[in-house]
Amino acid sequence: MESPAPPARAPVPARPGDTGTVLERCITGIEGLDNILGGGIPRGSAVLVAGSVGTGKTTLSLEFLIRGAERGERSLFLSVTEASDKLVQNLSTFEFFRTDLVVDGSLVFVDLPVIYEKLGMLGAELSSEELDILLRTIRDLVRSLGVKRLVLDSLTSLGYRIRTDEQIREFVLRLGEEMNACGCTALLVSEITPTQGRYSTRGVEEAIVDGIILLWNARRRGDIHRVLQIIKMRGSAHSHAQYVIELTPIGLLMTPHLKGARSEGED
Ligand SMILES: Nc1ncnc2c1ncn2[C@@H]1O[C@H](COP(=O)(O)OP(=O)(O)O)[C@@H](O)[C@H]1O
Ligand SMILES: [Mg+2]
Repeated sequence: MESPAPPARAPVPARPGDTGTVLERCITGIEGLDNILGGGIPRGSAVLVAGSVGTGKTTLSLEFLIRGAERGERSLFLSVTEASDKLVQNLSTFEFFRTDLVVDGSLVFVDLPVIYEKLGMLGAELSSEELDILLRTIRDLVRSLGVKRLVLDSLTSLGYRIRTDEQIREFVLRLGEEMNACGCTALLVSEITPTQGRYSTRGVEEAIVDGIILLWNARRRGDIHRVLQIIKMRGSAHSHAQYVIELTPIGLLMTPHLKGARSEGED
């Protein structure tokens, strides 16, 4: 007998033992990640994907969008530094990438510099007024296209143009609120250095977001392996364990980090 198809939506209690509230999950489509998150990310959450360079932040975020687009959830990649045509070119080496999703508009790439230019935001720093306009532009884009998954790669690069901690706090807070109101789950990429001792450049972003997925490179016996850990995820009784991840042509694979396997260094 065939096993029944899994439900498209996986409601789970907001907290263990809480039978009153259920949070709808955004099934990431990355199997290992959904398993440790108890079915996915609570829909409408804003989640930091934090890690140093080369840890797989962009690859994970793109797979999240592709898996979403495959499920009929329109997905938007907002690129701050890398030109999206180059990104798409690089992506074509992954088997899980499907050009047809871009062609049919399920997966949309937008370069933030193009938006800056259209809005005439050409100065080195964005004023509070300009940040407000930028936020509304992103919101309108998400609303008009019916976007259900958003990636901002990276919040750090955007943050370089934001002068004060208060402004970045306000921006992340409002972006989170707007995305939540649209039922859009957002991954905000955060570039950090291993010695920084926090998950975001300014340190204020991490307190506001609903979740933090941390990636890092661990060195052992001359090998480097990538490690993933969920630091926080509001509304989820998630695992805090560390997982070794592999970025393979068929997508991100996760295995538990062996107990007793000690790293000789991290970055
Ligand atoms: N198109 C690709 N094909 C194969 N491997 C890739 C591809 N793109 C990225 N990778 C691998 O993934 C690693 C992490 O890349 P990336 O996701 O861009 O990291 P980050 O965004 O954290 O800097 C790269 O160093 C490379 O090993
Ligand atoms: Mg990247």
